[in-house]
Amino acid sequence: MNQIRAPIRPKEYVVSSSAHAFVPSPDSSSTLPVKVLSFEERVHALGKKLLAGVRVESSSVLSRQYWSQQFMQWSMTNPTLKRNMFRLVDVLPSLTSAQSISDHVHQYLGDDIHALPSILGWGLKTSKLLPAPLLATAVRLGVKQMASQFIAGESPKQALSVLRTLRKNKLAFTVDLLGEYCVSEREALAYLDRYRECFTVLGNRVPQWPESAPIIAGHPGEASATCVSVKLSALYSQTASLNAERSIRVLSDRLAILASQAKEIGAQLYVDAEDSATNELVYGAFERVFTSSEFRSMPYVGCVVQAYAKESLGLLHRLHEIAHTRGAPLAVRLVKGAYWDQETTGAIQQGWDSPLFAKKRHSDANYELLSRYLIDNHSLLFPAFGSHNIRSIAHACTYAESKGLTTSNYELQMLYGMADPIARALRAEGALVRMYVPLGPVLPGMGYLVRRLLENTSNDSFLRHTFFEEHEVDSLLCSPLTNSEELV
Ligand code: 2OP
Repeated sequence: MNQIRAPIRPKEYVVSSSAHAFVPSPDSSSTLPVKVLSFEERVHALGKKLLAGVRVESSSVLSRQYWSQQFMQWSMTNPTLKRNMFRLVDVLPSLTSAQSISDHVHQYLGDDIHALPSILGWGLKTSKLLPAPLLATAVRLGVKQMASQFIAGESPKQALSVLRTLRKNKLAFTVDLLGEYCVSEREALAYLDRYRECFTVLGNRVPQWPESAPIIAGHPGEASATCVSVKLSALYSQTASLNAERSIRVLSDRLAILASQAKEIGAQLYVDAEDSATNELVYGAFERVFTSSEFRSMPYVGCVVQAYAKESLGLLHRLHEIAHTRGAPLAVRLVKGAYWDQETTGAIQQGWDSPLFAKKRHSDANYELLSRYLIDNHSLLFPAFGSHNIRSIAHACTYAESKGLTTSNYELQMLYGMADPIARALRAEGALVRMYVPLGPVLPGMGYLVRRLLENTSNDSFLRHTFFEEHEVDSLLCSPLTNSEELV
């Protein structure tokens, strides 16, 4: 089964903001009439509690990330400046001389260059006359510092102290090696070797730490403290839908090498989702490997589903069927999706219908629909809610509770460096929170860094509204769709 099926829309999975009323247990010590809270009211109550915790913590965290906060705030002042700043970040690793960096900075920033020194914390009014070596060093350092907020190190060994600190703070992790796509088999095999090295280093070190004892005893996500997320496309240089059968075969063979290592050390493994064209191949390889006799009983291997994709509900049905065939549960990391700009622009350029929802609030509403599906099917599909949006998280947790689930029946996942105050607030509520921690050299990491910057600064970004603009609590927590609105 290599093709993703057309979306299936069972009747019970319709978008509604008030479908599930929740009745709290009556307080026997009180003579006051018990107020029955609706499901929406419960989502709001939890969301408010989380936001209160987040806002207390966020000022100290943001001040430690001074440069990137300045950069993001500055780029949000005007869309052209933002586009040019991001182009500069993207091209920077390939510029080798100070003169070429200086030329690009002048060309991309134009007259806005006068603000650069204050962003860099220099207190100067103009950088027009700064000598090229000084300007190049400052910009390189600034971008490196910004990347280090989101990327934990160049190699697994370098990242060990970050990973251990996360565990000390009662946060789980999953490690990812930066890099999607590659242009030669030599590069693909080198990437495979880096993943093998990652399993070896983590497998040798992580179990030795006292912090690796389960954060929540008996939680399925804590069967092992070692968890690795694999981006499959870079494991084969000819990954392409026009080469589908061979792509799936080669990716399956290489994924099986990593799965076997994960099985040997008892680590958890997730296969990441990427762009829509690659996903057909990624899911095909996932299915082939994890329904094979060697790996079918491996518990909680994980797959990622992107709620911005119109076919995502159909995909959950397919994963449910795979888990059923295996007779062993799968973990599903439910995310909104990180390739929206790239895919939407590509579809417009080609004149194609986009496979993704055009409006952010439709992806948000679909996320809620898929959350309910996962919770209703949690015995075969272990839910891992990957989001920084407190409304989406509060919705999922409230629905889980209304179905009698506890925090041991699901986990929450977030990106390292993106929303630490949210992770801590959720941890304080007793949830298992796993941080997605990328490693690798800066050059293949630029795409990742730009995706994070876009997420923080887009007009629809929950993080922008929460941390930079402090929108009203009610507007942050309201249901993404009105009752009569349809997903399109
Ligand atoms: C990305 O690479 C987090 O997998 C997601 O942007």
